[in-house]
Amino acid sequence: CGICGVVGHRPATPIIFEGLRRLEYRGYDSSGIATVEHGRLACCRAAGKLDNLKNALEDTPLAGTTGIGHTRWATHGAPTTNNAHPHKVGQVAIVHNGIIENFADLKKALESKGRTFKTETDSEAVAHLLDEHMQQGMSPKDAAFATIRQLQGAYAIGMIFEGHDNLLIGARHGAPLAIGYGEGEMFLGSDSLALAPLSNRITYLEDGDWCVLTQDHVEILNGQGKVVERPVQTTSLTTGQIGKDGYRHFMEKELHEHPVAIGQTLQRIIDPVTRRVALPDMPFDVATLSRATITACGSAFYAGMVGRYWLEELARLPVDIDVASELRYRNPPQPDKGLALLISQSGETADTLGVLRELKGAGQSIVSILNVEHSTMGRESDLVLGMVAGPEISVASTKAFTAQLSVLAALTIDFSRQRGLLSEQKERELTDNLLDLPSHAMEVLGLFDQIRTMARVIAQARDVLYLGRGICMPVAQEGALKLKEISYIHAEAYAAGELKHGPISLIDPSVPVVAIAPSTILFDKTLSNLQEARARGGCILVFTDAKGAERLKDIAEHIVILPDVSAFAAPILYTIPVQILAYEVALLKGTDVDQPRNLAKSVTVE
Ligand code: G6P
Repeated sequence: CGICGVVGHRPATPIIFEGLRRLEYRGYDSSGIATVEHGRLACCRAAGKLDNLKNALEDTPLAGTTGIGHTRWATHGAPTTNNAHPHKVGQVAIVHNGIIENFADLKKALESKGRTFKTETDSEAVAHLLDEHMQQGMSPKDAAFATIRQLQGAYAIGMIFEGHDNLLIGARHGAPLAIGYGEGEMFLGSDSLALAPLSNRITYLEDGDWCVLTQDHVEILNGQGKVVERPVQTTSLTTGQIGKDGYRHFMEKELHEHPVAIGQTLQRIIDPVTRRVALPDMPFDVATLSRATITACGSAFYAGMVGRYWLEELARLPVDIDVASELRYRNPPQPDKGLALLISQSGETADTLGVLRELKGAGQSIVSILNVEHSTMGRESDLVLGMVAGPEISVASTKAFTAQLSVLAALTIDFSRQRGLLSEQKERELTDNLLDLPSHAMEVLGLFDQIRTMARVIAQARDVLYLGRGICMPVAQEGALKLKEISYIHAEAYAAGELKHGPISLIDPSVPVVAIAPSTILFDKTLSNLQEARARGGCILVFTDAKGAERLKDIAEHIVILPDVSAFAAPILYTIPVQILAYEVALLKGTDVDQPRNLAKSVTVE
């Protein structure tokens, strides 16, 4: 969910509404705004996309210069208007992101005091609790402190109060919240994206912090109620970076930003003169490192899978990899001073953050690969390796994925060298492979029309199989995930060699098989597997290079030919057409490409 709030001197509603637009990527199943005007609280909410809130606001305009807004990704309770935030109870209105774990106990206690709950949300308990303290005669500040002390779970909360036009209180525990500083106005937002056009001076609250904002004053307190100092950071995000620039969708725009994202990321970590990788010093001894653990969620996890192939093969480093929600509770034995490598676009995903804390507690060095370096994971890591992908707005990840891979590739080179496995010449060869990628990526962007032909086949299907071998297997997985996410067509990825051990029984002419098959990676083996599928009537669609195309022309229905690249660079390049394919299918299906149903870009609950 996303939170935006303001205490100021201008009408609050338009400011908050625009903030919510920028936060929609955090959830978009319902939204709402509450303001306080001449001491009176008023609230407007709507189920569905923000446009519905816009219409509702036309019927119920909200005046006032102080307010809070919320865009929701439902956890407790269906995405109805009634369950939408803000929750207004008695003298208070609140917005909440996260999960209140003890809400059932709180609810029971509040009901026994005669309070009636009107929604199915856990958040309503926060509003009742806060109002209960106000009813007992506490000041808003005391009531807020008393309330947050009773909450268990994860939350970011914004609160406004009847009778207090110049007051906005925020609290953070386990879900991100930041303060933006203005002239005669102060802002609250889930992240710097929400605050970007409002202020470039931002303070990120730490876990347990809460803050009391008035038009010209900010007070930050810790969990013990003591006033604390937190650094003010200057951000360089501008609104210009977050428009669609004439593209139909953010996803289309972000697909076109692959070359820039890869290029900018590599520029930061490869010295253009020596053509050698220049990463910051690791907080551990790379040469003697015995094992690394990689974790992430969603697309970032598949980037990690590619990383495993690279690190094991080239740096001879054993890697344990698992999705964060599993790893967190699996409790595998950890080596002394091992490395935990976390990958996240947002740096806020609750599952990944949970693992970060778990493994930090287990004495591992935490290195994270992040797009948002000022995120919670960024602040809690021992070392951040930033990608430079720029803001990624479309829910389905695109350019962040290839930027993550670019960092992982550079890290592999760095580790291989430090482990004595890489000559200077070999290092230059590998970095050259990477430095060629932005221009190859540009060439791939010229293939939209060809990929659309393939998309027409897939758009007719109910099920699709994606196949790859070796380091192209995670690329197949990313392709299948992307297709599921934005076109709602069922897709599964398999290691091509595994096809014959089960999924081959699914194959008939109605189940397209998409193969990621550069001629450099186990090509003959993949070819045999595709022949097995073809022999059973499968419709084969292939991404390969010119050499591979020559050998596949008799069995494939459609072939998209990509530039020749080395096996090392192939997973980065081959990801791009696979993502374009999902995009083109989604267009044909007419789905909501940037905001597919049920998903959120940044899932800050477990
Ligand atoms: C959500 C998104 C996925 C994304 C995953 C990880 O589930 O829907 O597209 O890959 O989170 O996000 P992160 O910000 O940690 O990379």
